[in-house]
Amino acid sequence: MTITEPGNDARVIAIDGPSGTGKSSVAREVARRLGAGYLDTGAMYRALTLAVLTEGLDPADAGKVAARAEGLVIDITTDPENHKVFADGRDVTVAIRSAEVSAAVSAVSAVSAVRRRLIRLQRQLAQGSTIVVEGRDIGTVVFPDAPLKIYLTATPSARATRRAEQLGVSDPGEIAGLTESLRRRDDFDTTRVVSPLRPAPDAVLVDSTDMSEEEVVEAILAAVTARGRTE
Ligand code: DC
Repeated sequence: MTITEPGNDARVIAIDGPSGTGKSSVAREVARRLGAGYLDTGAMYRALTLAVLTEGLDPADAGKVAARAEGLVIDITTDPENHKVFADGRDVTVAIRSAEVSAAVSAVSAVSAVRRRLIRLQRQLAQGSTIVVEGRDIGTVVFPDAPLKIYLTATPSARATRRAEQLGVSDPGEIAGLTESLRRRDDFDTTRVVSPLRPAPDAVLVDSTDMSEEEVVEAILAAVTARGRTE
C-alpha cells in the first residue's frame, strides 16, 4: 500500500508522541511539503476541555464531560496553511492554547466516551484524503492500518528546554519545574486505561533530542518515500 495512492482509504501518515517534541510544527510542515491535509487531534480534545471549563463543569466529572461531548459540535479545518478550530460555531483556535485548558485536558481526554466520539469524528475528517494526523493514539487506535506511523520522542529535559524557549523562560528552577510537569503528564498519558500513549509495534521511532526541526521533517519525508517504494 502506498501513501499517495489515489482512492486508497488508508492514506494516513500517523504522527504520535508526547508533548514538547515539536510534533505539531513538524506534522504541519510534512503536510505542506506533501501537499497533504493536516489534522491536529489534540486540538479537538482541547476544544471540548474549553467548553467544559467555560460552562463551569468539573473536568474530573466523567459523566458530565461525556454528556457535554455528545452535544458539542467541533469543526476543524484540515488545511495546513489555515488551521482553525470551531466549537459550536465559535472560533476557539487561540483560546484552546491557554494554561487552564492545558492543565485540564488530560482528565477530559481520559474519558472513554469522549474518545469514542472524537475518534469517530477524526476518522470522518480523514476519510479519502492523504492526511497527516498527529496525536497520541493515531497509529495504535484511530488508524491502526495507516501505511506510515511515526513515533516522535525526545528526552524530558530536551522537551522542557524547547517548551521554555517557546514560553521565553530561562530560569533553571522554572525549567526544572517544566521538566517535572512534562514527566507527570507523560506518566498520566502512558498509564491511562483508554488509549495509553505508546508507539505502535510498526511505528518508525524518531528521537528528536539532538535534531533540528528541519532534520526531523526530512527524516519523516524519507520514511514516506521508503514506505511508498517498498509496500
Ligand atoms: O497535543 P496536545 O498537547 O495539544 O494534546 C492535548 C491533550 O490531549 C494531551 O494531554 C493528550 C490528549 N490527546 C489525546 O489523548 N489523544 C490524542 N489523539 C491527542 C491528544
